[in-house]
Amino acid sequence: MSQPLITLDFLDKAPVADALPADVRVSAATRTGRARKLYIESYGCQMNFSDSEIVSSILADEGFDTTEDLAGADLVLLNTCSIREKAEQTVRMRLKQINSHKKRKPGMLVGVLGCMAERLKSKFLEEEKIVDLVVGPDAYRDLPQLISQVDGGQKAVNVLLSREETYADITPVRLNSNGITAFISIMRGCDNMCSFCVVPFTRGRERSRDAHSIVQEATDLVAAGYKEVTLLGQNVDSYKWASEDGTERVNFAQLLERVALISPELRVRFSTSHPKDITDEVLHTMARHENICKYIHLPAQSGNSRVLELMNRTYDRPWYEERVQAIRRILGEDCAISTDMIAGFCSETEEEHQDSLSLIDFAQYDMGYNFFYSERPGTLAARKLEDDIPLEVKKRRLQEIIDRQQLHARARYARMVGRVHQVLVENFSKRSQEHLSGRNSQNQVVIFPKGNFQKGDYVNVFVTSTTGGALLGEAI
Ligand code: SAH
Ligand code: SF4
Ligand code: F3S
Repeated sequence: MSQPLITLDFLDKAPVADALPADVRVSAATRTGRARKLYIESYGCQMNFSDSEIVSSILADEGFDTTEDLAGADLVLLNTCSIREKAEQTVRMRLKQINSHKKRKPGMLVGVLGCMAERLKSKFLEEEKIVDLVVGPDAYRDLPQLISQVDGGQKAVNVLLSREETYADITPVRLNSNGITAFISIMRGCDNMCSFCVVPFTRGRERSRDAHSIVQEATDLVAAGYKEVTLLGQNVDSYKWASEDGTERVNFAQLLERVALISPELRVRFSTSHPKDITDEVLHTMARHENICKYIHLPAQSGNSRVLELMNRTYDRPWYEERVQAIRRILGEDCAISTDMIAGFCSETEEEHQDSLSLIDFAQYDMGYNFFYSERPGTLAARKLEDDIPLEVKKRRLQEIIDRQQLHARARYARMVGRVHQVLVENFSKRSQEHLSGRNSQNQVVIFPKGNFQKGDYVNVFVTSTTGGALLGEAI
């Protein structure tokens, strides 16, 4: 996964059949013994993970059960990411491994979904002979038809992008879930055109999902025992939905409030916030509701105004700093902030790189997802700017960003020691079955002896120490 906005490590990835959460749908074909087996693997951002759950739902209606056993699968789908070159290379290598499985099971069908499918279109079929099926992010409803085409011996492609598709009516099969936390996609696409970014090309125009269907999905999750939802979009703060007659209008702050009001027992998270769009109204809404987690992913990309302009981010450094100050003013010092930074963007000087380091000091991020610049075909930067920073320089700058970021992350963990945190228990600790692991509102991992507590409980934990990457404590 190239960019885990929220760590998925400790989510329970047990085979679906081992622990069926309340809302897993088993297709009718399973009961008649006719089911075909679907193996689906997701790369990239949470949107892709969330989309795979929609795909599984669409295919469950066609008699496909999901399996975690690749070798035994009838249909293998890779939900792919194009964000950096490396993300694409990973998928190409995976296809080679899958090829060896297919040799042992010649009937196995192989499909690619997601952003790489959208970017490469039918070229994928020419370049990777093993691929039978290429389906873009807005064409998943067409999968049953495309699969029957492949069953009939043809290859199949649908990469049409849509201005309307939000899959609002499809109840996802919760593949990536521990039965406690779930993702809800609230919008699709992106209209921002940051010059380095391939997403507007692979995901199409921005569109917001019907607010009622979002609230309904969250309400159903609460009824099924879920305790946390993460509202997902490339740019959630520009969420904007209106009813057909125009009498009802909902912006992101209002949507957040509606979801928070479903139940005080439900935690609400969201990602990603674009610095140009996050409003004081959103911050005040967060402040008013205890159950909206105090964590904001606010990618800066660079700390230098000239570079930000070249990136077409539409804000400059003073604007970004003001947004950080607004977060501190309205939500206090405890609110966690994380960032994405790109090292070595076209023409970035050493001084401009230093500005990224000083912005990290200014914002004192809790977490950072940092990358060196990777030119993507077709983007504004690829067409208009020269990718002129040598790889060694990019890598060195990236390492400096990571090191600086880690200093602050450690300090942010350290200041939480000696205090009581409300933790939502998500799993056993990775190291010990005697310990439970969960997160506090700030998204920091908290580990404590299990006592009589279990997954899904809210526990007040007094934190006694930190490893730098997690908080350790005891239930009180
Ligand atoms: N919508 C989010 C970002 C989604 S892409 C936002 O606007 O903040 C996730 C991250 O990948 C970006 O924040 C950026 O830091 C990184 N990224 C995107 N394109 C990249 C590229 N060409 N090279 C390196 N990193 C890139
Ligand atoms: Fe890409 Fe920019 Fe859209 Fe984020 S806001 S997905 S970085 S174009
Ligand atoms: Fe990758 Fe597409 Fe997400 S390019 S980061 S999977 S939107």
